[in-house]
Amino acid sequence: MKKQWRLVSLVSLLALLLGGCGKAFQSTLIPQGEAAKMQYDLLILSTSIMVLVVLVVTAIFLYVIVRFRQRKGQENVIPKQVEGSHKLEVIWTVIPILLLLVLAVPTVTYTFKLADVSAANKKTLDEGTSVVDVTARLYWWEFAYKGEKIITSQDLVIPAGKKVYLNLKGADIKHSFWVPSLAGKMDTNPDNANQMWIQADKAGTYNGFCAELCGPSHALMQFKVRVLNESEYKDWVAAMQKQDGKSVAASVQDGQKVFQQSCAGCHAVDAKDARPAAARIAPNLANFGDRDMVAGIADNTEENVKKWLKDPESMKPGNLMTNKYGKLSDQQIDALAAYLESLKLGQ
Ligand code: CUA
Repeated sequence: MKKQWRLVSLVSLLALLLGGCGKAFQSTLIPQGEAAKMQYDLLILSTSIMVLVVLVVTAIFLYVIVRFRQRKGQENVIPKQVEGSHKLEVIWTVIPILLLLVLAVPTVTYTFKLADVSAANKKTLDEGTSVVDVTARLYWWEFAYKGEKIITSQDLVIPAGKKVYLNLKGADIKHSFWVPSLAGKMDTNPDNANQMWIQADKAGTYNGFCAELCGPSHALMQFKVRVLNESEYKDWVAAMQKQDGKSVAASVQDGQKVFQQSCAGCHAVDAKDARPAAARIAPNLANFGDRDMVAGIADNTEENVKKWLKDPESMKPGNLMTNKYGKLSDQQIDALAAYLESLKLGQ
């Protein structure tokens, strides 16, 4: 009895744990857009076929074991031999061929659909085609919106219901772009651009990850995909295009001074940052106050910003900001944090 209880509690604990995996903002099993849905359908189709094969083979196996076991008094009876039976040979050749066809047709069809990025490769993009250059760096993400001519870091903002084409590159080493509920992962390589498209059905925030082991903070190399309704997206783009980080409230001008002395060499607060991609070595902070997260992993509060500025290494080991900006006094850090949080679009 005791043993049974142990088993029951173990199974329920497992069920509880696995239940926690199913969140719409980051589960492959709860797809939130066209690409993810196609991949999910293939997953279900292939798993179902495999389970069916296992069940049928197991059933036949068990039947044979029981039906043809040696029985008392019949030790010398040999059942009818079926070697070379044409009927059986045909059956077990045709069934796997049919199963493979059922698997192959949708797989090949979807593979071509998912790989179709031709709209992003036209010399002049069609009106309304969204293309974003994604650059992965140790340990953060940059998104450059081609048509809109703006840049964000850590938050990829896209309109709902629309295909968004991504050109993926790694600036230093190999990383991998993954937003589980919107599409399968794809590598970001330093020497070639990979392309994919994503699409989200409805507004919301989806979690993104680096899916290629890239160093001590690989697991902390996270980002968000913020999906806005079409009209909200247009407003957001217009506001970003105006965001130059210059005009700030009098109360945060001290922080702005610290920023210009210690941070502006690497970080831009101008959303249209005109520097070439290779020169943009640190995250663009134009809409920092609007982000959900600090460093991609901690809630965006002034407390966490200060913690990050004081000792980035303690939050993200191996990051490239550590020791880059000299020692700041507590007063400077307070001012800087207030200034950074004020960088909002005011939407
Ligand atoms: Cu970047 Cu793992």
